[in-house]
Amino acid sequence: MLSLDKLPAELSGSGDWLRIKELEQQQNSLLKSVICGFNQLLDLRDLGTGVHSTRLAEWAVRVARKLGLPEAGLYQIEVAALLHDIGKIGIPDAILKKEGKLTDAERDLMNKHPEYSWSILRLLPGLEKASLYALHHHESFDGAGYPAGLKGEEIPIGSRIVSVIDAYDAMISNRCYRRGLSHEEAVRRLLESGGTQFDPTVVQTFVEIAKEEVADVFAATGVAPAAVI
Ligand SMILES: [Fe+2]
Repeated sequence: MLSLDKLPAELSGSGDWLRIKELEQQQNSLLKSVICGFNQLLDLRDLGTGVHSTRLAEWAVRVARKLGLPEAGLYQIEVAALLHDIGKIGIPDAILKKEGKLTDAERDLMNKHPEYSWSILRLLPGLEKASLYALHHHESFDGAGYPAGLKGEEIPIGSRIVSVIDAYDAMISNRCYRRGLSHEEAVRRLLESGGTQFDPTVVQTFVEIAKEEVADVFAATGVAPAAVI
């Protein structure tokens, strides 16, 4: 991606500089459109998140900020929160929508979706980190996850954040076959899995944010907290 930081001194203040700036703006705007289009594609295939996906991305950014991560890296986390499951496009409906238990072969294929997400997102200039976060969003803090079996802080921080928020979203969202869990129960399960499945610091940070903004959280689900039991 073009970067004004790397602009040669002789171009600064010239018409070339303005042209480069214009091209950079065009590229950024094209990238935003592609991200938005991918997000709609997920909705069309019914692969979107339970909670409105932009809200999910907003929480990811809030967690990242509260953890003190640099502002410059937040966009990659936001995109990963939106598009980490884009690779499910490559999984057959017979597996994605199967109601019963998956066979081992079906599970193996399903577990390929983070690699598929990575293979799509890495093609977009400027989304290198987001693609990496998507690749590792099913790693487990204790090393029992996939695809690489990374452990603890070997797992990129963006993946650790997406993993917690994605799990919370899955737990509180209503599905056609079950009602979502209450906020309290979802939080209890997250805390219980801190240190095994999830990064405990990320869980703690998310729980603090969710506690302060529980009404906001449930506003995004379209369900009142009292009704989600
Ligand atoms: Fe996933």
